Amino acid sequence: MQNNKKLVIGNWKMNPETSKEAEKIFTNISKGLKNTKKTSVVMCPPYVFIERLSKIKSSKVSLGAQNAFYEKSGAYTGEVAFSMLENLKVKYVILGHSEMRARGETNLEINKKIRSVLSAGMAPVLCVGEIERDANHEYLNLIQNQITECLSGLSKNNISCLIIAYEPVWAIGKGAVREATGEEFREVSIFIKKVLSDKFKNSNVRILYGGSVHPQNSLEFLTEGNADGFLVGRDSLDPKKFLEIINITENL
Ligand code: PGA
Repeated sequence: MQNNKKLVIGNWKMNPETSKEAEKIFTNISKGLKNTKKTSVVMCPPYVFIERLSKIKSSKVSLGAQNAFYEKSGAYTGEVAFSMLENLKVKYVILGHSEMRARGETNLEINKKIRSVLSAGMAPVLCVGEIERDANHEYLNLIQNQITECLSGLSKNNISCLIIAYEPVWAIGKGAVREATGEEFREVSIFIKKVLSDKFKNSNVRILYGGSVHPQNSLEFLTEGNADGFLVGRDSLDPKKFLEIINITENL
């Protein structure tokens, strides 16, 4: 059943500035969720806010992390282990975000992280997407390569709880070249399902859309794009907008 639900994940990136603000946004979203039946809602705050948010009682929002490191413990300055997150009720981990890839993260590292997330019993949210589009559809080869390398050595069983977020880099953030269309998402989503089906005989993985998701364009991605949900950046920091997006998935 869980897999039939839409999944809306918020990615706060390096925001907000204080844990008080984080608690306020999180609580407002949780309170606003009332009778959400068809949508699972996840929020991925910066690490330092996770513990405080995990203690909020009867929250309807699950917690996710924006990254983590594949080793369990040891001399890895600045890193956080997946097992540490597991203890804080974290259920999802975003991996391979384009902002991490831009700072040097490789498919090989993402692969190691996905394996660790799975062995800690959490769900990896693997981000894939091209920096720019070309008329020859080379970007599809790049996406195929990202998926193949990031999921190297995994089995059909392993990927049963995997989530993929297609995030075209050109459509992300304030500096986006333009917004993507539902049709553009659908093309890539079908392609990703084919890659997974060829490699794993599994095409049931949920494919989310991410990149300038707003209340105004979310319906198009769900109807024309057939998206299984969203990875939302900026609008996940605004309870009103985030709740509007969830309302749209609920009323589909
Ligand atoms: P955005 O970010 O919604 O602010 O474009 C999306 C993301 O980077 O995941």
